[in-house]
Amino acid sequence: DWTMAEFRGAKIQEIREQVGKGRVICGLSGGVDSAVAAVLIHEAIGEQLTCVFVDHGLMRSGEAEQVVSLFRGHYNIPLVHVDVADLFLGGLAGVTDPEAKRKFIGKTFIEVFEAEASKVGGAEFLAQGTLYPDVIESVSFTGGPSVTIKSHHNVGGLPERMNMKLVEPLRELFKDEVRELGRELGLPNAFVGRHPFPGPGLAIRIPGEVTQERCDILRKADAIYLEEIKNAGLYDSIWQAFAVLLPVRTVGVMGDGRTYDSVLALRAVTSVDGMTAEVFDFPGDFLPRVATRIVNEVRGVNRVVYDYTSKPPGTIEWE
Ligand code: XMP
Repeated sequence: DWTMAEFRGAKIQEIREQVGKGRVICGLSGGVDSAVAAVLIHEAIGEQLTCVFVDHGLMRSGEAEQVVSLFRGHYNIPLVHVDVADLFLGGLAGVTDPEAKRKFIGKTFIEVFEAEASKVGGAEFLAQGTLYPDVIESVSFTGGPSVTIKSHHNVGGLPERMNMKLVEPLRELFKDEVRELGRELGLPNAFVGRHPFPGPGLAIRIPGEVTQERCDILRKADAIYLEEIKNAGLYDSIWQAFAVLLPVRTVGVMGDGRTYDSVLALRAVTSVDGMTAEVFDFPGDFLPRVATRIVNEVRGVNRVVYDYTSKPPGTIEWE
């Protein structure tokens, strides 16, 4: 039975003992877990930590900028921000298979991270925001012996390749506990409360080929959806809400004209740890209002649908 303040103190001691005078590199994903791990480790060992943020350009509207300003501005933590959006978009050209997307993004992420980490020099430790569900999911995720549902994008395999030792201070925690620890460490509420976001980013929310144009369309629609969710006071009741831009065009009518544009699917689920999920039930007038806004404000989308599938049998992400 411990409080988060005690956990924080104990972990700081543990990190200091493990690391000694060594150097630590932490890969930031833009999400809450790696950020909380980094801030905690920074509190423990200060300038011995360097953070590397591989920015694949597949984040939501404004989120990459938020991470950079939080680390550099608010915490003054040394941060290497590698903008490799072109590399990722270039490599994704023509790729439509979900697993091929995931594998390309995972592999490229590791290559870029490795190259940047070697420039930092002399680091023998790699820090990761691994949570307890990540630890068990790698064994029991599919419920069956060796069926890969989705190749998860993380830096698993990196420590051996780079011959580094792992620092994983969040390994015993669930998501809600990480958020509590983040608040304890003074991370802004808006950041700590962020919905989980998958490593491969928007690429797996654009079935079919990922292009700059489709990323931009999805970002705009997604931002409207989230803005309405926040305005309605629903954000914290939802585990994840996001839009998916479908590779399907349908006919519509706008003013006097015929349109022939993409369909956008909206998804929102409740969950405890992402292993199972229930569809979120919006109040009656919410979804029609969002659909109208998106079709009116986002060029390229003329129809909006809602995903009513729980997990299982669906997964949370579409790819
Ligand atoms: P699925 O789609 O498998 O997702 O039901 C379960 C949870 O995991 C997130 N997710 C990922 N997170 N790297 C991550 O860090 C990934 O490659 C990845 N794929 C899915 C998903 O957003 C949901 O919270």
